[in-house]
Amino acid sequence: MIQELQQQTQQHYDHYPFIEGGSNRVAWWREYLRDFLPDELIRDRLVVDVGSSVGEVSRGLGDRGARMVCLDVSRQSLARCREINPEADIYNGSALDLPFMDATFDHAISIGVLHHTPDCRKGFKEVARVLAPGGVFVVFLYNWWNIYNPIYHAFKPIRALMPLERVPTFFVRLLQPFAKAHLGQSLDDWQLRRLLGDKLWTPQATFHSVRQVRQWGLEEGLSFVANKKFFLGYANVMKFVKAGTPGTQRREARVRCTRCGGGPMARNDDGYLCGCGHAYPREGGIVGCLQE
Ligand SMILES: C[S@@+](CC[C@H](N)C(=O)[O-])C[C@H]1O[C@@H](n2cnc3c(N)ncnc32)[C@H](O)[C@@H]1O
Repeated sequence: MIQELQQQTQQHYDHYPFIEGGSNRVAWWREYLRDFLPDELIRDRLVVDVGSSVGEVSRGLGDRGARMVCLDVSRQSLARCREINPEADIYNGSALDLPFMDATFDHAISIGVLHHTPDCRKGFKEVARVLAPGGVFVVFLYNWWNIYNPIYHAFKPIRALMPLERVPTFFVRLLQPFAKAHLGQSLDDWQLRRLLGDKLWTPQATFHSVRQVRQWGLEEGLSFVANKKFFLGYANVMKFVKAGTPGTQRREARVRCTRCGGGPMARNDDGYLCGCGHAYPREGGIVGCLQE
């Protein structure tokens, strides 16, 4: 069931990757995340973007000096992420079984992703696991206490009857005011369809209160630092810090085998190899970690 839902989500975002707003959107997120992750905290630090999609949020952090590692379940989205973030390490994997060793990253972000997985709680636990002591985790999750929650669920029968490609263009264009107010820019019809795909046609969306996510943080050894309501309160952007003292060493991505759980896997020209014989191939600059 979980596997099936994840495959549906993967196929959805392969067909309709999340929007690409270009330099405007990169700059918008670059500035928005400054309060959560100031320059001095991220410069030269290893930061993972879980559910990076085409990598516009990663681009902003990379521009401020972070060494980015991007991961997404959608290979199509990552192909574009590769172009936008040529210097980043890129992994095609799942947030629910991250292909990284414990405490690998100085900091982590996951913007609008874990609520699209079949198990948001598990995704949260996984990100906490790969975060080093003293690391910051910024997580964007849909807000339980917002009108968007019943609207998404009310659309279920419409989603079932009408595939996204058949939604009439006039309906898709109804999202333009939202895009303008939200992103400060207009989007073309293809991008608007991708936005609609993410907001109402995505196979899975779950909604969470700050109180619930704070509790998850406590359970994972993360203390809650701050929350900002996102555009009209439809999501919360929360900052957590993992207990412990940050190290001063330069971290490199340490890759874990999702088949046997061991690692770190050895890196070679073709990708990564585990002692158990399992390999992650690197193709087109993307390391493939999804189980067949
Ligand atoms: C709304 S987009 C977020 C994109 C990006 N974080 C941003 O803000 O531009 C959601 C992304 O989550 C990814 N996703 C969904 N389920 C996932 C999973 N189990 N593991 C990794 N990524 C997943 C989708 O492929 C999609 O690219």
